[in-house]
Amino acid sequence: MPNTGAFSIHALELGPMENFVYLIHDHATGRAAVVDPAWEVPQVLALAQRLDVRITDILLTHSHHDHINGIEEVLGVYDAQLHLNRDEARFWGQYLDLPTLHHGGDVIRLGETDIRTLHTPGHTPGSACYHVGDNLITGDTLFVFGCGRCDLRGGDPEQMYVTLKDMAVRLPAATVIHPGHNYAEKTTSTLEEQVEGNPFLHFDTPEQFVRYRMHYHDRHRDSPYHAIAKGEEMP
Ligand SMILES: [Fe+2]
Repeated sequence: MPNTGAFSIHALELGPMENFVYLIHDHATGRAAVVDPAWEVPQVLALAQRLDVRITDILLTHSHHDHINGIEEVLGVYDAQLHLNRDEARFWGQYLDLPTLHHGGDVIRLGETDIRTLHTPGHTPGSACYHVGDNLITGDTLFVFGCGRCDLRGGDPEQMYVTLKDMAVRLPAATVIHPGHNYAEKTTSTLEEQVEGNPFLHFDTPEQFVRYRMHYHDRHRDSPYHAIAKGEEMP
């Protein structure tokens, strides 16, 4: 549980697909943001009660069912503001209670804690990651030693290639990754470790990446994912 003094991030692994639901707690105000509320929402509510926080914001990394199926249940208890990327809202086609729509780079203020949104298309057109302190909540964009599928509706492996390249170049190496699913031998990792051992960050051309993501990976690799040395992705 990262705790900088100003905020802390709590993870709950919920549901049949090993989803991670995160609670970002701003210590100064007692406000909290829940990222991708889904599955056993009473566990999220119990955590909020235990921490004595008020959920004021709901942040979505994307609109797939396994990341959103608890939104209404949270809204039934807390009057929270919903946030998602503008392109994802268009892709999803559902607006619920007038969410705040973001472009990549927008900052969401959770009390004294700033959460920067990144637009990271590839898994879906409006996938987003949330950058808070040295932490990055990555949804289904980047997993520990893996990355999200690009073969579902709205997926685009070429965009995913660019998204992951940008992420590796622009964010500090010490950034701690918090993925949307528990698919690896451990629950978090650093970007540095991912650049080293995540096969999806090893390719130098989009063609190689697309071939690996779309035609090779799922037939040759099972979770829990482990590190792979560069050059060992494909025969
Ligand atoms: Fe997804």
